[in-house]
Amino acid sequence: MSGGARVSASRVPAERGAPIEFEFEGEPVGSYEGETVAAALLAAGVPAFGVTREGDARLPLCNMGTCYDCAVTADGERLVRACLADARPGMVVERNEAS
Ligand code: FES
Repeated sequence: MSGGARVSASRVPAERGAPIEFEFEGEPVGSYEGETVAAALLAAGVPAFGVTREGDARLPLCNMGTCYDCAVTADGERLVRACLADARPGMVVERNEAS
C-alpha cells in the first residue's frame, strides 16, 4: 500500500423518520418514514423477497435498482423494486413468485 491519505470510516449521524408499519406476507413489519421497503425487510430478517423458478430465495443484490433481485408485489403492483420503493404506512407487500 502506498503512503496516501487515510480515510476515516466514522459513522455519520442520521435522523430517522417517524416509525411506521406495513405488511409483508400478512405479517406486520416495522419501518421508518424515508426508509426503503428493502431496508425494512432486511432489518426484519426476511429470508426471501421472492423465489426463483428453481425455488431459490431472491434477495437484494445491487441495492440501486438495476438487478431486480429485490422485486416484490406492492399494493397489487408486480415487480416493484424494493430497494427503490419507499415504505409507506399500511402498504401490502408480497413475495414475487417466478412465473
Ligand atoms: S437490489 Fe437490485 S434492483 Fe433492487
